Amino acid sequence: MSKKLPAVSSKAPVMLHGADYNPEQWLRYPEVLREDIRLMKLAGCNVMSVGIFSWVSLEPEEGVFTFDWLDHVLDSFAENGIYAFLATPSGARPAWMSEKYPEVLRVERNRVRNLHGFRHNHCYTSPVYRDKTATLNAKLAERYAHHPAVIGWHISNEFGGECHCDLCQNAFREWLKAKYKGSLDELNHAWWAAFWSHTYTSWEQIDSPAPHGETQVHGLNLDWRRFVSERTIDFCRHEIAAVRDFNPDLPVTTNMHMIDGIDYRELAKILDVVSWDAYPEWHYTENDDDVRLAAWTALNHDMFRSFKHKPFLLMESTPSLTNWQSVSKLKRPGMHKLSSLQAVAHGSDSVQYFQWRKSRGSSEKFHGAVLDHSGHAETRVFRDVAEVGKTLAGLTEVVGTVTPAETAILFDWDNRWAIKDAQGIRNSGLKYEETVLQHYRALWELGIPVDVIGSGDDLTRYKLVIAPMLYLISEENGQRIEKYVEQGGTFLATYWSGVVGETDLCHLGGFPGPLRRTLGIWAEETEGLHSRDVNGLVLNADNALKLSGDYDAHEIAELIHLEGAEALGYYRSDFYAGQPALTLNKLGAGRAYHLATRVKDAAFYVELYAAITAKAGIGRVLESELPAGVTAQLRTDGEHDYIFLQNFSGTEASVTLDGLVYTDLESGEAAPEVVALPVNGLVMLKRKVAQK
Ligand code: GLA
Ligand code: ZN
Repeated sequence: MSKKLPAVSSKAPVMLHGADYNPEQWLRYPEVLREDIRLMKLAGCNVMSVGIFSWVSLEPEEGVFTFDWLDHVLDSFAENGIYAFLATPSGARPAWMSEKYPEVLRVERNRVRNLHGFRHNHCYTSPVYRDKTATLNAKLAERYAHHPAVIGWHISNEFGGECHCDLCQNAFREWLKAKYKGSLDELNHAWWAAFWSHTYTSWEQIDSPAPHGETQVHGLNLDWRRFVSERTIDFCRHEIAAVRDFNPDLPVTTNMHMIDGIDYRELAKILDVVSWDAYPEWHYTENDDDVRLAAWTALNHDMFRSFKHKPFLLMESTPSLTNWQSVSKLKRPGMHKLSSLQAVAHGSDSVQYFQWRKSRGSSEKFHGAVLDHSGHAETRVFRDVAEVGKTLAGLTEVVGTVTPAETAILFDWDNRWAIKDAQGIRNSGLKYEETVLQHYRALWELGIPVDVIGSGDDLTRYKLVIAPMLYLISEENGQRIEKYVEQGGTFLATYWSGVVGETDLCHLGGFPGPLRRTLGIWAEETEGLHSRDVNGLVLNADNALKLSGDYDAHEIAELIHLEGAEALGYYRSDFYAGQPALTLNKLGAGRAYHLATRVKDAAFYVELYAAITAKAGIGRVLESELPAGVTAQLRTDGEHDYIFLQNFSGTEASVTLDGLVYTDLESGEAAPEVVALPVNGLVMLKRKVAQK
């Protein structure tokens, strides 16, 4: 049965390849614009994102609109078989607007209003900004929503940041009134405001966090972050509403980025397709190897795919350097293709860049682009890009294929916010993201597909759910996890879980709060360890996972009591020696594991997840041994599996296939039994599902 989903645009049911294109910077250079089209075709590009920062070129004076240049660009695209994501230009506004309506400018935490400048510098509440945005968006939609070249909306650019103006303060208070049902008493309790006499006696007393004001009320901090996130999403919703009716079939996206400020899982709900901008700093520092970075990038790709459980778009990536790293290194040979196809391996139906042509001036003039200031195609970067274009042109059958993951990792925005805000066991670094990555990386090394989901999402589609440092968990979601395990699911939690609830109040009655029954333990005390401190996890003989050995542990340790769980391993030293450090609780038809300390060694996690996934009946992409730093990822249409073997190890590697029949997707030839992967090498294989 085919599991294939429709392409992002029915007009272009192919792998998309292209870049941000800013022709408004080049209007005085007509020969450049002509040459661009020729070179786009030469590079195998079929899509460009246009208009992202074009506001002043579209509305040079208030109410005066100039579309001819954009008409010309889009018409030329249509004549040449190039498609466009048409942007709404709200990411930066014209100077005339800031001059006439200062309220559109953002007020920072220190309560000082910004001057005109930069970008992403606007208030998401300002009625003027909303009005101006809606007007221009509607003009664009009226003119271009049915243009043959246009295949989707690119709403604004990398939404983010926060505004503390009076309009936003009032909106925050209204938001709180709605959340706490008009009761200040409820709010004061939820925020534990009696602490340091912070109790509010009127709504007007509530202000957003400020460096010279309130920063110590965690419930306020958390609600403010939620409000900022919702406000931003609401602004995006407002932008979408302005264009939608002109052509309801035109898909809408906004380019996300791994920033802190917005709950992307919520933002994704109002979009038709998810897109994101990936800028891994390959070959960055001596101690930051490409394998770790590849796994981190993979985790992000998986998360963006999991928002909608369907293909996403890689909206931006750099074809060569960036201009913002402390040191900007070139991508080593092979890395451009490998990292571009890595996105496809995890579910992207596009490879797009920032940007097509390097700006001649201003801050991004040295940011990598497909075309350098030299202006011709005889460059290493252009050849790399053209090679990716050629490869993508051969992957049309992969468009719309899915990744059927049986394992999920929980990654919640509010957990992340709360954990970072908490003052407690290890202020020098709790390392939340690194912990998530530590667990994810083992599955990546094993070639096991993973979805990255929220604790409010449907868990029942997974055989294994992993919750690294689930510090914030509501009673309700705790109960859902308990039910999931009772009904046969496998769950793994770590130290520093089940500590606070939805408003950042500690769970009473013993940690891990609502996960206590599921895990069958009580975590009596948790401590942070100094960098010099080392404890260890010693596996029991004959433990239920058949694990063995003795692994160093560091940074965080928890003293736990068994309340129904069995110990699979114990602490090695200190006064912890002999106390349980890894446990298993059998609950109903399921199993729940708890890791009480941060094991240092990556090999432990590989052993752990090899054993847990085998027990849970979770398959790997290939039943083959994968060398360290080599992964296999899967996309499928239900009839054919597409396997992406990727070598990030920095050395040559080979993989012995598992005996099934494979075709090399690029050559069309039968794959050898032993597949050779050069440094930064990638091999794409195809197999019939029926063989399995
Ligand atoms: C972001 C922005 C782009 C560009 C790139 C540079 O992703 O969306 O406009 O500034 O960064 O890396
Ligand atoms: Zn504001």
